[in-house]
Amino acid sequence: FLHSETHLRGNSALIHLICIGFSLFIGLLSRPGSSLFSWHPFLMTLAFSFLMTEAILVFSPHGSPLKRFPHKVKGGVHWILQCLSVSCAVLGLAAISYNKFLNGKAHFTSWHGLLGLLTVCVVVLQSLAAVPLIYQTLAKGWSLAKLKRYHAASGLVSYLLGSVSLLLGLRSAWFTASVREHTWYLSALCPALSALVIMNQVTRAYVAKKRLQS
Ligand code: HEM
Repeated sequence: FLHSETHLRGNSALIHLICIGFSLFIGLLSRPGSSLFSWHPFLMTLAFSFLMTEAILVFSPHGSPLKRFPHKVKGGVHWILQCLSVSCAVLGLAAISYNKFLNGKAHFTSWHGLLGLLTVCVVVLQSLAAVPLIYQTLAKGWSLAKLKRYHAASGLVSYLLGSVSLLLGLRSAWFTASVREHTWYLSALCPALSALVIMNQVTRAYVAKKRLQS
């Protein structure tokens, strides 16, 4: 048991490092501000790899920097990080769309572009659907426990969509031309590993709650 505890703590420390490292790497590579396009990979990685992962890790029983704080504080930090994440995602979408418009290119022609658009729409909806968790009077006839469960499940789906969009972004001509093969594989590992850890965290919390209720 002790062994698996240390193991889990090790995993979450690794995920913090991976998210920060990956975001820094894409930031350095794209040099935000050097062109309108450069904002797209930078803002999207910031939104989905750094901010959204940290927003969910806040609730991790092992890897949360706020482990000893009350649940209310964790909820507040989660809320702020997710607002920042959605803002970056919307700005990142605006940057690439406007860049394509200026260059007279067709929109949403690749799998990355299509899934990316869906991802941004889903995270905006997910955020709006989370408002009743703060203002509970808005959720008439729904118990808070039920709302939280739906929020966690649909939040996990949004996170996985984000991870797949990031991975497809790494397959773009821009990124494959910017890095060598082994760097590409290392980069692709980042969203893949984070997705596994987040999936593990959310399903564990969900399964544990279900057991308590039945
Ligand atoms: C979850 C994160 C991401 C989302 C939601 C996303 C979303 C999008 C969308 C919607 C488009 C199409 C815009 C249009 O057609 O008007 C697009 C294009 C593009 N994205 Fe991303 N993106 C993400 C991450 C990345 C990353 C990390 C990179 C680079 C490493 C990247 C590189 C590109 C490139 C080169 C294009 C233009 C070519 C194309 O349309 O496929 N994206 N992205």
